[in-house]
Amino acid sequence: AGTAVLMGTACSSTKSDAVAATAPDALRLDPTRFEKQTVSVDGQSIAVRAYLGVPYVAKPVDTAYQVINIYVPEAYYQNAKVGDFDARTAPVFFPNQVGGYMPAKPGTAQAVTQGPSAGKPSTIAAALLKGFVVASPGARGRTLKDADGAFTGKAPAAILDLKAAVRYLRLNASVLPGDMEKIISNGTSAGGALSALLGASGNSPDYETYLQAMGAAPGRDDIFAVSAYCPITNLEHADAAHEWLFNGVNDYRAIQVSMLDFNMVRKEVAGTLTPEQIKVSNELKPLFPAYVNSLNLKSPQGQNLTLDASGNGSFKDWVSGYVLSSAQGQLDAGKDLGKYSWLNIQGGKVRSLDFDAFVRYAGRMKLPPAFDALDASSGENNLFGTASTNNRHFTDFSVQRNTANAAVRAEDKLVKMMNAMQYIGSRDARNAKRWRIRHGTIDRDTSLAIPVILATALQNQGYAVDFAMPWDQGHAGDYDLEQLFAWMIQVAK
Ligand code: DHB
Repeated sequence: AGTAVLMGTACSSTKSDAVAATAPDALRLDPTRFEKQTVSVDGQSIAVRAYLGVPYVAKPVDTAYQVINIYVPEAYYQNAKVGDFDARTAPVFFPNQVGGYMPAKPGTAQAVTQGPSAGKPSTIAAALLKGFVVASPGARGRTLKDADGAFTGKAPAAILDLKAAVRYLRLNASVLPGDMEKIISNGTSAGGALSALLGASGNSPDYETYLQAMGAAPGRDDIFAVSAYCPITNLEHADAAHEWLFNGVNDYRAIQVSMLDFNMVRKEVAGTLTPEQIKVSNELKPLFPAYVNSLNLKSPQGQNLTLDASGNGSFKDWVSGYVLSSAQGQLDAGKDLGKYSWLNIQGGKVRSLDFDAFVRYAGRMKLPPAFDALDASSGENNLFGTASTNNRHFTDFSVQRNTANAAVRAEDKLVKMMNAMQYIGSRDARNAKRWRIRHGTIDRDTSLAIPVILATALQNQGYAVDFAMPWDQGHAGDYDLEQLFAWMIQVAK
């Protein structure tokens, strides 16, 4: 450790100083308690100060997870620049590590050594080399228990933790380089959903009593921008969205574990839906058009995006259009798409695609209902448990068809508090205005309709939304760091 003196930086404002005055000492970052590190990616390295395992709430219930790792380029203490940024202007990259709505430790600048991403460089190290300040929050998750065996990480714990971490950063803005008005959240899958929720629900009063009880810093928790890979969001509508896409695809390749998490190595087992499961799919699919139509989504050209009772219409064409653009991108990059018989290619252009054949090519991975399992056995059922009840339903559909021992349902307010869609355009929340959303064309962990609805609702608010479906990309994130960072630099300017 050494002595950190911040000179010539204007990180604080009088407003945040007023808020800071009321905060407990436990929430003040000691600027001298850092570790010097040299972090490297691909032969390039940068000296940083690392504040590791810093508690971001005054009354943590779990000191392993309610902590944050903060990394700052050493240059920012020497009046120097990294890339285009300096101590005053550097945006703050805020990646969570959540997968499967499980507990997640804060991220580190070390290369990934385990799971499907083993061998990949650390996203955090790569961001530091670009000049971002990096603050990676830990968060509680659905399986966490205290010493008495009570669950401590059920919904809404993870989003509360991310919000508390944002408030902590703002509270300590005067002792940290970086622009706390340029916080850019990032996450994948469940972490992508939380990243989107953090961006949508800024300062919403829904969370306030919980945050106060945790000893979170007072102040704002809205953020500047969101990066979300394959967000597993909109859970209460995700079952119908899933069967809208996969109804009629009865053969599946399911994952051999009940805990779905992109961080885990996945083993597939093939099977066929039972007549009972096909019936459930047939009952869920017709619920989707009414939901989509209730959103009044529009294309940028002003066309209404809707579905008829059989699930066809302009919204379906809109979803299909993203797959088509993705294919065109491949063609333009010189790739041979000859093997995709469902693409109609003429004269170097992808003219159309057989959407049903494309969906069969992607394949079904989840059994209906994909999220609110009738026996309440899914990870999402587990997310909506309580301190004493491990699993609960969160849709009327599955409560009515419940096969578990007890048909307990999460409160509507709680389900709302986990869904980014519920806060977009809401008067009570401050939405981030810049979004980058990615969902691979063959990522079957949630319906392609889910990220399309999210991106379109945000576009319809007039926000800057960069949304694409990377070609033949499965369930993963952070696979295009150069483009991600280029987007972050561009929006932060
Ligand atoms: C994740 C994947 C899922 O299929 C799901 O239902 C929830 C979370 C994940 O990878 O985080």
